[in-house]
Amino acid sequence: MTQIKAILKDNTIISKEVACDCNLKRAHDLHPELPLKFGCRRGDCGVCAIRVVEGMENLTRRTKQEEIFMAKKKLPAEYRLACQCSLNGGGGITIGPKPS
Ligand code: FES
Repeated sequence: MTQIKAILKDNTIISKEVACDCNLKRAHDLHPELPLKFGCRRGDCGVCAIRVVEGMENLTRRTKQEEIFMAKKKLPAEYRLACQCSLNGGGGITIGPKPS
């Protein structure tokens, strides 16, 4: 097991334990209090974009669909599409608030 931690805009921290290879859709299904939102769930809409402030190396590599979306929207490197990534067994991640 490992942790998905989320820092909210008011600095509240939510931390939930998940399986080391959990995908983020499953993490949200198990822990709906995590600040994850999903739309298309296939890398097209961007609703699920998250800013990873710690543990980027603990996520699976970007999918082809995610690469296309990120290039099109010019999102910074610390952003991922939650619907396209899973924990890779290396440890947890921390999600930070997006700048307003
Ligand atoms: S839910 Fe649409 S891109 Fe992830």
